[in-house]
Amino acid sequence: MNPSVRTAVIPAAGLGTRFLPATKAQPKEMLAVVDRPAIQYVVEEAVAAGLDDVLVVTSRGKSAIEDHFDRLPELEAELDRKGKHDALDTVVALAQGPRMHYVRQGEPLGLGHAIAMAADHVGGSPFAVLLPDDLMVDDAALLRGMLAAHRERGASVIALKKVPSDEISAYGCPRVEPVDGSLVRIQEIVEKPSPEDAPSDLAVTGRYVFGPAIFDALGKVEPGKGGEIQLTDAIGTLAASEPVYGWVFSDGRYDVGTPLDHLRATVEIALARPELRSTFGPFLADAVRRHGLG
Ligand code: UTP
Repeated sequence: MNPSVRTAVIPAAGLGTRFLPATKAQPKEMLAVVDRPAIQYVVEEAVAAGLDDVLVVTSRGKSAIEDHFDRLPELEAELDRKGKHDALDTVVALAQGPRMHYVRQGEPLGLGHAIAMAADHVGGSPFAVLLPDDLMVDDAALLRGMLAAHRERGASVIALKKVPSDEISAYGCPRVEPVDGSLVRIQEIVEKPSPEDAPSDLAVTGRYVFGPAIFDALGKVEPGKGGEIQLTDAIGTLAASEPVYGWVFSDGRYDVGTPLDHLRATVEIALARPELRSTFGPFLADAVRRHGLG
Protein backbone atom coordinates (compact mmCIF):
# COMPACT_ATOMS: atom_id res chain seq x y z
CA MET A 1 0.00 0.00 0.00
CA ASN A 2 1.45 3.39 -0.96
CA PRO A 3 1.59 5.98 1.83
CA SER A 4 -1.44 8.22 1.59
CA VAL A 5 -1.06 11.88 0.73
CA ARG A 6 -2.01 14.27 3.52
CA THR A 7 -0.16 17.50 2.71
CA ALA A 8 -1.03 20.15 0.14
CA VAL A 9 1.82 22.52 -0.68
CA ILE A 10 0.58 25.86 -1.99
CA PRO A 11 3.33 28.06 -3.45
CA ALA A 12 2.24 31.67 -3.02
CA ALA A 13 5.51 33.61 -3.06
CA GLY A 14 5.37 34.93 -6.64
CA LEU A 15 5.16 38.61 -7.53
CA GLY A 16 1.90 38.46 -9.51
CA THR A 17 3.12 40.85 -12.21
CA ARG A 18 0.39 39.83 -14.67
CA PHE A 19 -2.25 41.37 -12.40
CA LEU A 20 -0.66 44.73 -11.60
CA PRO A 21 -1.65 47.19 -10.26
CA ALA A 22 -4.12 45.08 -8.21
CA THR A 23 -1.23 43.01 -6.84
CA LYS A 24 1.11 45.88 -6.01
CA ALA A 25 0.20 45.98 -2.31
CA GLN A 26 -1.89 42.82 -1.86
CA PRO A 27 -1.09 39.19 -2.62
CA LYS A 28 -2.68 37.93 -5.83
CA GLU A 29 -3.78 34.84 -3.89
CA MET A 30 -6.00 37.16 -1.82
CA LEU A 31 -7.85 38.66 -4.80
CA ALA A 32 -11.50 37.83 -4.27
CA VAL A 33 -13.39 35.63 -6.71
CA VAL A 34 -17.07 36.37 -5.93
CA ASP A 35 -16.87 36.35 -2.12
CA ARG A 36 -13.68 34.61 -1.08
CA PRO A 37 -9.98 34.90 -1.91
CA ALA A 38 -8.61 32.62 -4.59
CA ILE A 39 -6.43 30.73 -2.10
CA GLN A 40 -9.49 29.77 -0.03
CA TYR A 41 -10.99 27.86 -2.99
CA VAL A 42 -7.71 26.00 -3.37
CA VAL A 43 -7.56 25.07 0.33
CA GLU A 44 -11.22 23.93 0.11
CA GLU A 45 -10.35 21.80 -2.93
CA ALA A 46 -7.48 20.15 -1.02
CA VAL A 47 -9.81 19.34 1.90
CA ALA A 48 -12.51 18.01 -0.46
CA ALA A 49 -9.89 15.65 -1.93
CA GLY A 50 -9.05 14.32 1.56
CA LEU A 51 -5.93 16.35 2.49
CA ASP A 52 -5.75 17.72 6.02
CA ASP A 53 -2.40 19.49 6.21
CA VAL A 54 -1.51 22.62 4.21
CA LEU A 55 1.88 24.28 3.78
CA VAL A 56 1.79 27.70 2.14
CA VAL A 57 5.06 29.04 0.72
CA THR A 58 4.89 32.78 1.32
CA SER A 59 7.12 35.82 1.08
CA ARG A 60 7.30 39.44 2.18
CA GLY A 61 3.98 41.23 1.88
CA LYS A 62 1.88 38.07 2.08
CA SER A 63 0.88 38.14 5.75
CA ALA A 64 -2.77 38.68 4.75
CA ILE A 65 -2.83 34.98 3.79
CA GLU A 66 -1.91 33.91 7.34
CA ASP A 67 -4.41 36.35 8.84
CA HIS A 68 -7.16 35.01 6.60
CA PHE A 69 -6.88 31.48 8.00
CA ASP A 70 -6.43 32.61 11.62
CA ARG A 71 -8.87 33.70 14.35
CA LEU A 72 -9.77 37.41 14.53
CA PRO A 73 -11.24 37.87 18.02
CA GLU A 74 -12.20 41.58 17.60
CA LEU A 75 -14.23 40.85 14.46
CA GLU A 76 -15.80 37.74 15.98
CA ALA A 77 -16.86 39.69 19.11
CA GLU A 78 -18.35 42.46 16.98
CA LEU A 79 -20.31 40.06 14.74
CA ASP A 80 -21.59 38.29 17.85
CA ARG A 81 -22.63 41.57 19.49
CA LYS A 82 -24.54 42.58 16.32
CA GLY A 83 -26.25 39.19 16.04
CA LYS A 84 -24.62 38.47 12.63
CA HIS A 85 -24.36 34.77 13.34
CA ASP A 86 -24.04 33.50 9.76
CA ALA A 87 -21.09 35.82 9.15
CA LEU A 88 -19.61 34.81 12.51
CA ASP A 89 -19.87 31.10 11.64
CA THR A 90 -18.17 31.74 8.28
CA VAL A 91 -15.29 33.62 9.87
CA VAL A 92 -14.76 31.09 12.68
CA ALA A 93 -14.94 28.10 10.28
CA LEU A 94 -12.00 29.52 8.32
CA ALA A 95 -9.73 29.03 11.31
CA GLN A 96 -11.03 25.52 11.96
CA GLY A 97 -10.06 23.96 8.63
CA PRO A 98 -6.96 21.90 7.91
CA ARG A 99 -3.73 22.43 9.84
CA MET A 100 -2.09 25.47 8.22
CA HIS A 101 1.69 25.92 8.11
CA TYR A 102 3.83 28.58 6.48
CA VAL A 103 7.38 28.75 5.19
CA ARG A 104 9.03 31.79 3.63
CA GLN A 105 10.79 31.88 0.28
CA GLY A 106 13.27 34.73 0.75
CA GLU A 107 13.65 35.47 -2.97
CA PRO A 108 11.27 34.60 -5.84
CA LEU A 109 13.71 32.17 -7.47
CA GLY A 110 11.05 30.23 -9.34
CA LEU A 111 8.31 27.68 -8.75
CA GLY A 112 10.83 24.84 -8.42
CA HIS A 113 12.71 26.76 -5.73
CA ALA A 114 9.41 27.42 -3.91
CA ILE A 115 8.57 23.69 -3.90
CA ALA A 116 12.05 22.88 -2.57
CA MET A 117 11.17 25.02 0.48
CA ALA A 118 8.65 22.30 1.43
CA ALA A 119 11.26 19.53 1.84
CA ASP A 120 11.66 19.81 5.63
CA HIS A 121 7.90 19.87 6.17
CA VAL A 122 6.93 16.90 4.00
CA GLY A 123 10.00 14.79 4.85
CA GLY A 124 9.84 11.41 3.12
CA SER A 125 6.10 11.47 2.39
CA PRO A 126 4.31 12.03 -0.90
CA PHE A 127 2.49 15.37 -1.20
CA ALA A 128 0.27 17.36 -3.52
CA VAL A 129 1.08 20.79 -4.99
CA LEU A 130 -1.78 23.16 -5.81
CA LEU A 131 -1.00 26.46 -7.53
CA PRO A 132 -3.34 29.05 -6.04
CA ASP A 133 -3.73 30.98 -9.28
CA ASP A 134 -5.09 27.86 -11.01
CA LEU A 135 -8.63 27.78 -9.75
CA MET A 136 -10.51 24.56 -10.50
CA VAL A 137 -14.30 24.63 -10.73
CA ASP A 138 -14.75 20.86 -10.66
CA ASP A 139 -15.64 19.72 -7.12
CA ALA A 140 -12.03 18.53 -6.73
CA ALA A 141 -12.56 15.84 -9.41
CA LEU A 142 -9.14 16.42 -11.01
CA LEU A 143 -7.21 16.25 -7.73
CA ARG A 144 -9.17 13.19 -6.55
CA GLY A 145 -8.41 11.39 -9.82
CA MET A 146 -4.71 12.26 -9.54
CA LEU A 147 -4.52 11.06 -5.93
CA ALA A 148 -6.22 7.79 -6.86
CA ALA A 149 -3.75 7.29 -9.73
CA HIS A 150 -0.87 8.02 -7.35
CA ARG A 151 -2.19 5.44 -4.85
CA GLU A 152 -2.53 2.85 -7.58
CA ARG A 153 0.81 3.44 -9.33
CA GLY A 154 2.98 4.73 -6.47
CA ALA A 155 4.40 7.39 -8.80
CA SER A 156 4.19 11.14 -9.37
CA VAL A 157 1.16 12.41 -11.30
CA ILE A 158 0.98 15.76 -13.11
CA ALA A 159 -2.19 17.53 -14.34
CA LEU A 160 -2.17 18.00 -18.11
CA LYS A 161 -4.74 20.20 -19.84
CA LYS A 162 -5.54 19.97 -23.52
CA VAL A 163 -4.99 23.44 -25.00
CA PRO A 164 -5.30 24.94 -28.50
CA SER A 165 -1.98 24.93 -30.37
CA ASP A 166 -1.61 28.74 -30.26
CA GLU A 167 -1.55 28.59 -26.42
CA ILE A 168 0.99 25.80 -25.95
CA SER A 169 4.03 28.10 -25.99
CA ALA A 170 3.01 29.48 -22.57
CA TYR A 171 3.41 26.06 -20.89
CA GLY A 172 5.57 23.04 -20.28
CA CYS A 173 4.50 20.43 -22.86
CA PRO A 174 5.17 16.69 -22.48
CA ARG A 175 5.67 13.86 -24.96
CA VAL A 176 3.41 11.10 -23.64
CA GLU A 177 2.30 7.56 -24.24
CA PRO A 178 -1.26 6.46 -23.40
CA VAL A 179 -1.78 4.23 -20.35
CA ASP A 180 -5.41 3.94 -19.35
CA GLY A 181 -8.34 6.38 -19.60
CA SER A 182 -7.17 9.82 -18.43
CA LEU A 183 -3.75 8.47 -17.49
CA VAL A 184 -0.69 8.86 -19.73
CA ARG A 185 3.01 8.28 -19.06
CA ILE A 186 5.31 11.27 -19.47
CA GLN A 187 8.45 10.56 -21.48
CA GLU A 188 9.95 14.03 -21.65
CA ILE A 189 8.90 17.64 -21.22
CA VAL A 190 9.71 20.66 -23.38
CA GLU A 191 9.37 24.07 -21.72
CA LYS A 192 7.35 26.63 -23.72
CA PRO A 193 7.70 25.05 -27.20
CA SER A 194 6.61 26.81 -30.39
CA PRO A 195 3.39 25.25 -31.79
CA GLU A 196 5.39 23.52 -34.58
CA ASP A 197 7.80 21.92 -32.09
CA ALA A 198 5.22 20.96 -29.43
CA PRO A 199 5.34 17.19 -28.78
CA SER A 200 1.60 17.15 -27.82
CA ASP A 201 -1.38 19.43 -27.23
CA LEU A 202 -1.05 18.92 -23.47
CA ALA A 203 0.00 21.70 -21.08
CA VAL A 204 1.42 21.13 -17.59
CA THR A 205 -1.02 22.89 -15.23
CA GLY A 206 -1.19 23.67 -11.55
CA ARG A 207 -1.93 20.36 -9.81
CA TYR A 208 0.77 17.80 -9.02
CA VAL A 209 1.23 14.77 -6.76
CA PHE A 210 4.90 14.11 -6.04
CA GLY A 211 6.95 11.56 -4.17
CA PRO A 212 9.99 12.84 -2.23
CA ALA A 213 12.28 12.05 -5.22
CA ILE A 214 11.18 15.40 -6.70
CA PHE A 215 13.47 17.12 -4.16
CA ASP A 216 16.54 15.25 -5.52
CA ALA A 217 15.47 16.22 -9.04
CA LEU A 218 15.07 19.86 -7.99
CA GLY A 219 18.58 19.74 -6.53
CA LYS A 220 19.95 18.72 -9.95
CA VAL A 221 18.22 21.44 -11.96
CA GLU A 222 20.45 24.23 -13.24
CA PRO A 223 19.04 27.70 -12.53
CA GLY A 224 17.72 29.32 -15.70
CA LYS A 225 16.85 32.92 -16.56
CA GLY A 226 17.02 35.23 -13.51
CA GLY A 227 18.39 32.37 -11.39
CA GLU A 228 14.97 30.68 -11.42
CA ILE A 229 14.64 26.96 -10.71
CA GLN A 230 11.94 25.60 -13.03
CA LEU A 231 9.67 22.86 -11.71
CA THR A 232 9.15 21.63 -15.28
CA ASP A 233 12.89 20.89 -15.60
CA ALA A 234 12.79 18.85 -12.39
CA ILE A 235 9.78 16.85 -13.66
CA GLY A 236 11.74 16.12 -16.85
CA THR A 237 14.74 14.96 -14.77
CA LEU A 238 12.45 12.77 -12.64
CA ALA A 239 10.76 11.24 -15.70
CA ALA A 240 14.18 10.19 -17.01
CA SER A 241 14.81 8.04 -13.92
CA GLU A 242 11.37 6.75 -12.82
CA PRO A 243 7.79 6.57 -14.15
CA VAL A 244 5.93 9.89 -14.05
CA TYR A 245 2.29 9.98 -15.10
CA GLY A 246 0.05 12.69 -16.47
CA TRP A 247 -3.68 13.01 -15.78
CA VAL A 248 -5.41 14.59 -18.77
CA PHE A 249 -8.37 16.92 -18.28
CA SER A 250 -9.98 19.61 -20.39
CA ASP A 251 -12.45 21.75 -18.43
CA GLY A 252 -12.89 23.72 -15.25
CA ARG A 253 -9.52 25.45 -14.90
CA TYR A 254 -9.13 29.24 -14.64
CA ASP A 255 -5.80 31.06 -14.34
CA VAL A 256 -7.00 33.70 -11.89
CA GLY A 257 -3.54 35.27 -11.93
CA THR A 258 -4.69 37.02 -15.13
CA PRO A 259 -7.55 39.56 -15.35
CA LEU A 260 -9.38 37.74 -18.19
CA ASP A 261 -9.52 34.32 -16.53
CA HIS A 262 -10.29 35.97 -13.20
CA LEU A 263 -13.40 37.45 -14.85
CA ARG A 264 -14.32 34.11 -16.41
CA ALA A 265 -14.00 32.33 -13.06
CA THR A 266 -16.08 35.02 -11.37
CA VAL A 267 -18.93 34.59 -13.87
CA GLU A 268 -18.74 30.80 -13.77
CA ILE A 269 -18.78 30.60 -9.97
CA ALA A 270 -21.50 33.27 -9.61
CA LEU A 271 -23.79 31.43 -12.03
CA ALA A 272 -23.27 28.16 -10.13
CA ARG A 273 -24.45 29.75 -6.84
CA PRO A 274 -28.25 29.53 -6.61
CA GLU A 275 -28.53 32.74 -4.54
CA LEU A 276 -26.61 34.74 -7.19
CA ARG A 277 -27.76 32.92 -10.31
CA SER A 278 -31.34 34.24 -10.07
CA THR A 279 -30.24 37.90 -10.02
CA PHE A 280 -26.80 37.91 -11.65
CA GLY A 281 -27.93 35.62 -14.53
CA PRO A 282 -30.56 38.04 -15.92
CA PHE A 283 -28.14 40.98 -15.41
CA LEU A 284 -25.46 39.18 -17.41
CA ALA A 285 -27.89 38.27 -20.23
CA ASP A 286 -29.05 41.89 -20.38
CA ALA A 287 -25.47 43.24 -20.35
CA VAL A 288 -24.56 40.92 -23.24
CA ARG A 289 -27.54 42.25 -25.25
CA ARG A 290 -26.84 45.92 -24.38
CA HIS A 291 -23.26 45.57 -25.53
CA GLY A 292 -24.41 44.05 -28.84
CA LEU A 293 -22.81 40.67 -28.10
CA GLY A 294 -25.76 38.34 -28.27
P1 UTP B 1 3.51 32.30 -11.66
O1 UTP B 1 4.61 32.59 -12.59
O2 UTP B 1 2.16 32.07 -12.22
O3 UTP B 1 3.34 33.42 -10.56
O4 UTP B 1 3.94 31.12 -10.72
P2 UTP B 1 3.93 34.84 -10.40
O5 UTP B 1 5.39 34.83 -10.64
O6 UTP B 1 3.45 35.34 -9.08
O7 UTP B 1 3.08 35.59 -11.51
P3 UTP B 1 3.42 36.60 -12.66
O8 UTP B 1 3.85 35.73 -13.80
O9 UTP B 1 4.46 37.55 -12.17
O10 UTP B 1 2.10 37.27 -12.91
C1 UTP B 1 3.07 30.04 -10.38
C2 UTP B 1 2.93 29.90 -8.88
O11 UTP B 1 4.19 29.75 -8.27
C3 UTP B 1 4.36 30.68 -7.22
C4 UTP B 1 3.41 31.82 -7.53
O12 UTP B 1 3.02 32.47 -6.33
C5 UTP B 1 2.27 31.10 -8.23
O13 UTP B 1 1.33 30.60 -7.29
N1 UTP B 1 5.78 31.09 -7.20
C6 UTP B 1 6.39 31.48 -8.34
C7 UTP B 1 6.45 31.08 -6.00
O14 UTP B 1 5.89 30.71 -4.93
N2 UTP B 1 7.76 31.46 -5.98
C8 UTP B 1 8.41 31.86 -7.10
O15 UTP B 1 9.61 32.19 -7.02
C9 UTP B 1 7.69 31.88 -8.31
